[in-house]
Order: sequence, then C-alpha cells, then structure tokens
Amino acid sequence: MPAIEVSGLKKAYGSLQAVDSISFTIDKGEVFSLLGPNGAGKTTTIEILEGLRERDAGDVKVLGMDPWKQGGELHKKIGVIPQGFTFLPYITPKEAVNYYANLFDVKVDADQILRTVLLEDSKSSYFMKLSGGQKQKMGLALSLVNRPDFVFLDEPTTGLDPQARRAVWDVIRNLKKEGISVMLTTHYLEEAEELADRVAIMNKGKIITAGSPAQIIAEYGSGEKIRVRGDEDLAEFLRTQTGLQVAFVDGVVVVTLKAKGDTLAVLQAIGKSGMEWSDLTIRNDSLEDVFVRLIGSKLDEGQTAGAS
Ligand SMILES: Nc1ncnc2c1ncn2[C@@H]1O[C@H](COP(=O)(O)OP(=O)(O)OP(=O)(O)O)[C@@H](O)[C@H]1O
Ligand SMILES: [Mg+2]
Repeated sequence: MPAIEVSGLKKAYGSLQAVDSISFTIDKGEVFSLLGPNGAGKTTTIEILEGLRERDAGDVKVLGMDPWKQGGELHKKIGVIPQGFTFLPYITPKEAVNYYANLFDVKVDADQILRTVLLEDSKSSYFMKLSGGQKQKMGLALSLVNRPDFVFLDEPTTGLDPQARRAVWDVIRNLKKEGISVMLTTHYLEEAEELADRVAIMNKGKIITAGSPAQIIAEYGSGEKIRVRGDEDLAEFLRTQTGLQVAFVDGVVVVTLKAKGDTLAVLQAIGKSGMEWSDLTIRNDSLEDVFVRLIGSKLDEGQTAGAS
C-alpha cells in the first residue's frame, strides 16, 4: 500500500481553481517533492493531505486514512511543518519538544530528537535567538515528537543561507534513513534533485509531469552537451569534423551529443584542431533547466519567503 494516494483532487477558492484535478502516489519511505512557482497550489495540496483543509472533490488516502474524516487519528502519525514556521520567542528547543510531547501525550527523549535534527548544541537557546536554519531544525524536531511515519515539509529551506540549507538536507536524509516518508515543497530545484526520489512539477493547479529527476531530465531535457570556450572557427571545425549539431553562443561552442561515442570524437577533434580552447564541460540539463522550459519562467526565490 502506498503512503499517499491522490486521485482527481480539486480545490477552488471562489472562482480560482487552486488545485485542478491532480493525481499522484507516494510510496512508503520515499522523499517526494512538489515543485512549482508561487501560487501553483502546493500548499493547498499539502494542507488537504494534512487534514487542515477540506477538498472539493477527489479521493485522498494518507497512510490509508481520509485526512478530512479521520484527521484526529491521522495527526498521531504525521509530522507537519507549515510554510513560514515560527514559534514563541522565549521557548527553547528542548522546552518546545517536551511541550509537544505533553500535547501528544507521548514520552520522548528530547535530546535524542534534537540530535537527529542536528540542534543539540542550541537546545537551551531561546527560539528568538536561533538562526533561520536552527529555527527550521526546531520545526523539524517538533514534527518528529509523535514518531511520525510521514512528514510534510512546506518550504523548509526558503530564506536560509546555503550552509543552513545543506544542514536541513542532512536532517531530511536522516529521516529517510529512519524509514520516514517525506513530502517536501521547495523553490530550490537542486534541492529536489539532491533529495527527492520522485518529484511532481505543478503549475496553475495541475501536475505537468512527475517522476524521478533523472526520468524527467531524460524526457524533457535537451540532451548531453559539451561546452567549450573557443572561437567561431573552432565551432565550424567541430561541425565539419563530427557532423554533430554545433552552436556558438557568447564565445562558447556548444556541441549536442547524440551517441555515447560522440564525446570521444568531439574531444579528439578539439585536440586535432590545434586551436585555443578552455573551460570544457560535459553535462545534461539540470532539473532546473527542464523546469524553466516547462514552466516558461524562472522562479523568483526571493519573492517566496513568507508567502503562503
Ligand atoms: N485561503 C485562501 N483563500 C483564497 N485564495 C487562496 C487561499 N489560499 C491560497 N489561495 C490562492 O490559491 C492559489 C494557490 O495557493 P497555494 O498557497 O496553494 O500556492 P503555493 O504553490 O503553495 O504557492 P507558494 O509557492 O507561493 O507558497 C494562489 O493563487 C493563492 O493566492
Ligand atoms: Mg506554498
């Protein structure tokens, strides 16, 4: 049985169709990332799965339960960090964990939980004194108090500096190691590529495509390319020598590879040319390249902080 099964899910706010008949499944133990620009419908979807919002239509099962009708039972088994998580200023992480344990009526080893989220060193600092990354880790700690099977993280790294984001990634990897399934939304495409087993790309309430990052790149990417700094003569030389598609953009020669042996042929041709060259790279599109092509506009990361 999958951890989450969604079929034909719909939700409108007045005349705005925020979620427009989406379907997907999340397997147990999987990290699944919902990607999409501002207003795509990610938070609405997550909040329906958490049992915080009622859906208009569709079948939704989370850990085998209907999140709206069996919310009370479900909330014992899931962990949630809402978008833009915040907490009382004068509470320490350790106090907060113990407070949540009382709420859930469970016994916890607060130090152990704070170790899991890499926050042990700051367990006695006031929430307001924590850095952005530490605050998110405290949110993660709270989501773990009830030993959830499934954790929902809505933009857990938005607004964090690169180091803090990577620290949160380590925590998410720890969750996966412990067998906890994770649904994650993020505006950082490389984060999804790094962490997620599968992603779904959402836009205007619809899922445009879903699959592993590698599958999506294989399907929608423009293929593997060699990029090398050189002049137009080099581009022309490689074109005639290899018979491959060669472009010349801003002082960079871009060769689109078709078959495995093409790489070697291009490298040999570059050597044979005797011309100046530098900064050679071989790579396929990233998930971000594909996302930009599919959505048609680059995400503005700054715009998302604190948005809902
Ligand atoms: N309670 C609400 N009432 C009316 N409209 C809403 C409400 N919540 C969300 N919306 C609208 O529904 C659409 C989807 O919003 P949602 O918060 O689900 O998007 P999102 O993908 O999470 O965006 P973001 O990346 O900015 O967090 C947006 O156009 C938003 O303005
Ligand atoms: Mg959102």
